[in-house]
Amino acid sequence: MAGVAVKDDHYLIVAALDIGTTYSGYAFARRDQFNKDPLQIDTNIWKSGTQLLSLKTPTCLLLDSNMKMEAFGYEAENRYSDLVEKNEHDEYYYFHRFKMSLYKAKNLSKELIIEDITGKSASALDIFSMSIKALKEHFLNKIREQITEIHIDDIRWVLTVPAIWSDGAKQFMRSSAEKAGISPNKLRLALEPEAASIYCQYLPTEKLEGAEKGLPVAAVGTKYMVVDLGGGTVDITVHEKKNDGSLKEICHASGADYGGTSVDREFFKLIESIIGTAAMNEFKGEYIESYLDLLRYFEIKKRNFDA
Ligand SMILES: Nc1ncnc2c1ncn2[C@@H]1O[C@H](COP(=O)(O)OP(=O)(O)OP(=O)(O)O)[C@@H](O)[C@H]1O
Ligand SMILES: [Mg+2]
Repeated sequence: MAGVAVKDDHYLIVAALDIGTTYSGYAFARRDQFNKDPLQIDTNIWKSGTQLLSLKTPTCLLLDSNMKMEAFGYEAENRYSDLVEKNEHDEYYYFHRFKMSLYKAKNLSKELIIEDITGKSASALDIFSMSIKALKEHFLNKIREQITEIHIDDIRWVLTVPAIWSDGAKQFMRSSAEKAGISPNKLRLALEPEAASIYCQYLPTEKLEGAEKGLPVAAVGTKYMVVDLGGGTVDITVHEKKNDGSLKEICHASGADYGGTSVDREFFKLIESIIGTAAMNEFKGEYIESYLDLLRYFEIKKRNFDA
């Protein structure tokens, strides 16, 4: 696992926050249950507003004209659509698909500025920290339904980052988490493909699609490739299970920004080549609702594509 050692071992709950390029979510586990059943992991089921239920919510942030958070996730998507429909959206800020700005930034610093959907500027550190805070607060509300007496110091936090990111980008996430009110000595960064790889150690073979019976990835000496296809990045590594139960990284993580959003980007480039750049800019600028609809529609088509 990446990140500095967390000295404070007095925690009851581990809460993992996962900010993704397209979708974000969180999961949590009780420390006392982990030894009995490591797969006792709880999460939130997000509702899109219609019938759709999912384990993650879109990475969308809606801010008011004073840059105060209005909504995150499906709620932000729906509220922004309503505002656009009523033509009341001008003063608002709407950020989506901003995670990769940390991968792309040259000379990344805490002063990095990113643009919202209409080109309005904001501090990236604020946008990332508000997103982390939204997940954190959602989790705290949820856990308080289960354990009313929970104290913030009882929680150890994990924040996921792509393995191929630079140290600077990972540090940026750490700073964003601190700004979101997570104490640095309670926080551990986890590399996304490593988290998936560790999770697979605990899965019974029946649940691993394509796995040979009796040959789980958990067998000592097993070498396997982890291919993490996300919305922003593709991360590829090879791990080996060691005698002491730990995992050794045999190949350095490699990959690039070849995630699912690169397919969306190419699709929009194709449309632009047909209708022209001026029409595309007008479409994105003046008809935001239709633009967001097209993104959503393409997402459904992509998911149902049968090669
Ligand atoms: N069946 C499918 N076929 C093609 N693409 C898919 C399918 N299902 C999901 N995707 C794409 O996968 C991406 C979402 O994956 P995931 O939730 O792992 O990414 P993320 O966590 O948002 O991104 P990252 O971890 O890279 O920052 C989206 O771009 C989505 O369009
Ligand atoms: Mg992800």
